[in-house]
Amino acid sequence: MTDHKQMIKNILEQSEKPPLCFLHSFGCQQNVSDGEKILGLLCEMGYGVTNDITAADLIIYNTCAVREGAELKVYSLVGNLKNLKKKNPGLIIGVCGCMAQQEKTVEKLKKSYPYVDIIFGTFALGELPRLLYKALTEKETAVDITEYNTDFPEDIRPVRSSSFSASVPIMYGCNNFCSYCIVPYVRGRERSRPPEAIINEVKELVSSGCKEIMLLGQNVNSYGKTLDEPISFSELLRRINDIDGDFRVRFMSSHPKDATKELIDTIVGCEKICKHLHLPLQSGSDRILEAMNRHYTAEKYLETVRYARSLIPDLSFSTDIIVGFPNEIAEDFEATLDVVRKVRYDNIFSFIYSKRTGTKAAVMEDVTPEEEKKERIQKLLEVQREISSEGFRRFIGRTLTVLFDSADDEGYCSGKSNEFIIVKAKADASVIGSFRKVKITKAFNWALEGDII
Ligand code: SAH
Ligand code: SF4
Ligand code: F3S
Repeated sequence: MTDHKQMIKNILEQSEKPPLCFLHSFGCQQNVSDGEKILGLLCEMGYGVTNDITAADLIIYNTCAVREGAELKVYSLVGNLKNLKKKNPGLIIGVCGCMAQQEKTVEKLKKSYPYVDIIFGTFALGELPRLLYKALTEKETAVDITEYNTDFPEDIRPVRSSSFSASVPIMYGCNNFCSYCIVPYVRGRERSRPPEAIINEVKELVSSGCKEIMLLGQNVNSYGKTLDEPISFSELLRRINDIDGDFRVRFMSSHPKDATKELIDTIVGCEKICKHLHLPLQSGSDRILEAMNRHYTAEKYLETVRYARSLIPDLSFSTDIIVGFPNEIAEDFEATLDVVRKVRYDNIFSFIYSKRTGTKAAVMEDVTPEEEKKERIQKLLEVQREISSEGFRRFIGRTLTVLFDSADDEGYCSGKSNEFIIVKAKADASVIGSFRKVKITKAFNWALEGDII
């Protein structure tokens, strides 16, 4: 144990009751996974975990910078903490993650929210013990947004929110610099974890009963390129598929420019890999795709989809779409709708473009009024609702494998099928955390319903 960890442990041991920490992660699964490791680190030092923010001695917001809305939410929540801090001056408040990695955030927090004790970026997660020690022993805000070239220590045991579904990062950072995106600036260049570390983690999870492994990376298709002994993502998938056990594997995200036939063939050939591909389209207009620096055309994207469907006719696709990129005109938006209608996604995550200072797109001229962008996103959602309600009907009468994850008050449990579609069925909570066969009887535009057989 490092000195700071031990010193914090000594301080915490003196308190009357075990101190509690509350952590909330915003943004993508990568961030949620970081949050689980931060909790692991805190538990090692003697903190207990609470979901009740008012009972916490340490509150950490692990933030996302991908859109302005995500940032505003954090400022508003941090603003709300002022009263808690007044009532309990010993409370330690931390802000970390992608938003904290930016200099402008540090300045704003220091100026307008001076009661924040710790600010640390995505590279400095492992520095938390040192920063926390500083916060516990000195008055000044402890800040670290250094771009360290080491990743989170491999030996930290994450505190996972689920015992049956686990996220496993396979790489960090991004080299793609899509012109709208802040991620490469706050997460740094692409680095891959060694395959042995990933495989050992998956084996351990599976032997402890985990049923679903989600492999994470900003562009999993470029996994392994920077390793001393490079291996492809497809090869990693095959090795994971060879691990014994009753579990399924998902991955995200897959950049369309790097989604190869080998990847599709691997999905076909590996029985543990879900027959679902999240392939972010962003736009269906070649002109906009070029301005976004995405390196593919709508036709190239559709070619990948066609190849995949020729091998797995029922493959489920989901995607991310940005509406209202600078100078997207009605014609560009129509091109997006056209691809959406051709692919017939089962699920779409759509976002109105949000200007991110420091990115290339931030200085592009943007003449489309916000109202028009809102109308476009409504139209996209409407088109998608029709597609999903029609598309979901293909499952009626069929039996899907569902991993149940929650129960409601009306006697239903729900979970996700291997196609990554929400399925609900009448069942008691004992099905949670296990695979069940469900015969589908009804299709909605957001989910399926059926009977466990
Ligand atoms: N690396 C992943 C996703 C990263 S962020 C990928 O490439 O797919 C998740 C999604 O947020 C992106 O796919 C994109 O649709 C959206 N996004 C990113 N930057 C955005 C911005 N400035 N405004 C609106 N949406 C954005
Ligand atoms: Fe952002 Fe593009 Fe990297 Fe995804 S691939 S994180 S959208 S820069
Ligand atoms: Fe957000 Fe950072 Fe993920 S900006 S989307 S939390 S990598």
